[in-house]
Amino acid sequence: MNLFTFYNPTKLVFGKGQNAKIVKEVENYGKKVLLVYGGGSIKQNGLYEFVTGQLSEAGLQLTELAGVEPNPRLTTVKKGIELCRKNEIELVLAVGGGSVIDASKAIAVGAKYEGDIWEVITKKVQPVNALPLGTVLTLAATGSEMNSGSVITNWEINEKLGWSSPFSFPKFSILDPKNTVSVPKDQTVYGMVDMMSHVVEAYFHKAENTALQDRIMESILLTVMETAPKLLEDLDNEEHRETILYCGTMALNGITQMGLRGDWATHNMEHAVSAVYDIPHAGGLAILFPHWLRYTLNERISRHVQLATRVLGVDPIDKTDQEIALEGIEALSAFWTSLGAPTRLADYNIDESQVEKMAELASNRGEFGNFKSLTKEDVVNILTAAL
Ligand code: NZQ
Ligand code: ZN
Repeated sequence: MNLFTFYNPTKLVFGKGQNAKIVKEVENYGKKVLLVYGGGSIKQNGLYEFVTGQLSEAGLQLTELAGVEPNPRLTTVKKGIELCRKNEIELVLAVGGGSVIDASKAIAVGAKYEGDIWEVITKKVQPVNALPLGTVLTLAATGSEMNSGSVITNWEINEKLGWSSPFSFPKFSILDPKNTVSVPKDQTVYGMVDMMSHVVEAYFHKAENTALQDRIMESILLTVMETAPKLLEDLDNEEHRETILYCGTMALNGITQMGLRGDWATHNMEHAVSAVYDIPHAGGLAILFPHWLRYTLNERISRHVQLATRVLGVDPIDKTDQEIALEGIEALSAFWTSLGAPTRLADYNIDESQVEKMAELASNRGEFGNFKSLTKEDVVNILTAAL
């Protein structure tokens, strides 16, 4: 294991009926609230009415920022920062999926930073303060509800960048599985692929002696794989929604990565793809991950073999490590396909014309990937294989 210090100050308020705690949590931070949400799903499922009703009844003053895009944009973040300043906002309340939460993290930090928030996102400046942020999660996927990460797209220059800071953890996150029941099938699939990808990123590490970390990660993967088909058969089932919601949070709240460094190159490549084509994050991951796994087969094959045999149901008898690993990759890919995830970049009408640009975007800050370091040429190879 590597040395580690674990810090995660987010208060997680989890389970059926926990929506009832919204006022109690919000009131701890003041009266003036910026309510941030997306393109309208919360208006269709009744959550908007519930949240605004409860907060207004309690005498809280609401300012709204609606229309946060999937793959949230810098322009929207800047609008939110302006609203915070103009209305002397005391708490940013994100009600939505990862995009709404990520935008809200940048708004909360940006409201307390005099300069341009893009300087924070590009890591030129470390924030030293932020408005408090609370979240009500509506989509199980990113883990943003209990981590400090945020991914923002500067559409003008096609840059989609992840950043984080000790000040961007939510103060509290309310996770009521009821809020995720209205998530349509395709987004439900993307969410499950995303959380599995977070675990797979972490699983490919070079630390030694990670017995418990490995078992925690395998448990999350196996739980998602067991639950996913049942949930897709019965999207209204709150028990399955609850299980998947908990998996999504546990997949990226820091617990799986205590004492190890995950790879994260596939996420970086996917961010470059969605910076150019604005595709769903996990659609890109489902396509790219099997290719990255094949590309890194000989890096530390024991990790591939362990994943294949412990999680992906590969029988190792009379097989070489290469055969076991390859069968594991096929099994993972087949599982995602069985859920309905895309398999090729062509599924999003992506052809070779922008491969060079995407590879440049992924690698313009130098080589990346902690398990296997990738150059621009490696990215070209992986993207080309995925076309
Ligand atoms: O915008 P609305 O109308 O709310 O609709 C959303 C959106 O169209 C819809 N949705 C959300 N909750 C719903 C619902 N529809 C019906 N019922 C509900 N209860 O789903 C669509 C996708 O929402 P979005 O928030 O974009 O999805 P997700 O949570 O997957 O977030 C994706 C973003 O997070 C970033 C991704 O790159 C992408 O930009 N990531 C953030 C991470 C983090 N902060 O730690 C890590 C991830 O790896 C990821 O990179
Ligand atoms: Zn992800």
